[in-house]
Amino acid sequence: MEDTTESPAIHPAIAPLSYLLGTWRGQGEGGFPTINSFSYVEQLHFSHSGKPFIAYTQKTWKLNSGEPMHAESGFWRPKPDGTIEVVISQSTGLVEVQKGTYSAEEKVIKLQSELVGNASKVREITRVFKLVDEELFYEVKMATNLTSLQPHLKASLQRI
Ligand code: HEM
Repeated sequence: MEDTTESPAIHPAIAPLSYLLGTWRGQGEGGFPTINSFSYVEQLHFSHSGKPFIAYTQKTWKLNSGEPMHAESGFWRPKPDGTIEVVISQSTGLVEVQKGTYSAEEKVIKLQSELVGNASKVREITRVFKLVDEELFYEVKMATNLTSLQPHLKASLQRI
């Protein structure tokens, strides 16, 4: 089908999260009680097509060597009642259905896994995103078969 909409209008459903749209880059720190901690570079891209969802892609690299690490992509589906559903597929094969809430005023998004699929160890994942002074911060926690919910990732990103 012909693509006639080069820059479509933002759908009202995603307007409260339109501050995410664009490309973000920054650094993160990873850890977990059972692994060595590590530092990474990350790029996030949020885009829209005029439909009521935001498309999301993420890539990471080792901070020192630039070697590619984890990548993931998905769709963010905010609803007018302040709830949000996010589906994510990870480069490791793991898939997530995340549900939660967003606040357009406080620019905070809180997600809790409803489903974690095709995972050998992971039982639960939480993700919190917060925009503070034009900087995007997030924290990811996970629970595995051996470990209760603990931080795995923390990063801060700037718009590029
Ligand atoms: C929600 C997203 C993610 C999930 C669910 C996840 C899951 C896991 C799990 C289950 C482990 C093994 C923990 C254990 O053995 O007890 C792990 C380790 C690790 N993860 Fe993640 N991960 C995620 C995102 C990332 C990202 C974005 C990176 C890189 C930037 C990353 C880098 C690592 C590294 C380096 C290890 C240690 C590997 C090792 O020492 O064998 N992870 N992750």
